[in-house]
Amino acid sequence: MELLDGKYLSQTIKDEIKIEVDKILADGGRKPHLVAVLVGENPASQSYVRSKVRSCEQVGFGSALIERDSDISEEDLLNIVDDLNNDDSVDGFIVQLPLPDHIDPDKVTMAIDPKKDVDGFHPINLGRMTIGLPAYLPATPNGILEMLSRYNIETSGKECVIIGRSNIVGTPMSILLSRKSDPGNCTVTLCHSRTKDMVDHIRRADIIIAAIGRPNFVTADMVKKGAVVIDVGINRVDAPERKRGYKLVGDVDFENVAPLCSYITPVPGGVGLMTVVSLLMNTLRSYRKEVYG
Ligand code: GUN
Repeated sequence: MELLDGKYLSQTIKDEIKIEVDKILADGGRKPHLVAVLVGENPASQSYVRSKVRSCEQVGFGSALIERDSDISEEDLLNIVDDLNNDDSVDGFIVQLPLPDHIDPDKVTMAIDPKKDVDGFHPINLGRMTIGLPAYLPATPNGILEMLSRYNIETSGKECVIIGRSNIVGTPMSILLSRKSDPGNCTVTLCHSRTKDMVDHIRRADIIIAAIGRPNFVTADMVKKGAVVIDVGINRVDAPERKRGYKLVGDVDFENVAPLCSYITPVPGGVGLMTVVSLLMNTLRSYRKEVYG
């Protein structure tokens, strides 16, 4: 079993991005610039957004965090999006999800200029991705592709089972891994809450991608020997013995599944860090006008 080490890999990619940024600055260019918008006080969102801003600083990007209380109106949030769309100094921005119930996340996502949508959530980017045009790929699926690619994991012809059909992970991941590309060319099964005999599907998988947000959902009896297991879950579970009172666990029962795998991602230290790095890569692509010219 080999660990897919998101900590090492994300640091390697950050080092590569930093070299690029240093070159841009040495040539008299301005810093690439990413802005994050955070509404409310969801502790997980706060922690993700802080990690995104910190990572920008590490690679030499300009960054800003716009924080608003959870009672911000939808209109005021849409105005912030509009300002960022029109601010030429901003290469890309994200609005951290989830949003409070009175705000329609689809409306907000669709208000983001696709050229600055470095999360890759806008339907224009998802549509372009689907037909193989240049697009910002959604950060988590893109991070997983990067991981598979850098560890030289063969995907062509493999049976891939994805658990969870969210707009930001499972659904785009299913499209990306079934495309005629490398990584790609998988036979993909997308499992969800209405899937019958889910365990039978998972047992067939050469590659399992767990993205359902249920702690330790994938257990050893579901995993074929030699499978590649990618754990997207980041679940907080009570841990009174810890200073913070909780610990993070994935969607996979790591301890018992790991010995069966050829490769597996840990939580923390796996996919989560790759998501942040994808955002940086997309921001650099936006700065270079690589996607939309
Ligand atoms: N919430 C969970 N993951 C993400 C992400 O990648 N981007 C945004 N904007 N919100 C999220």
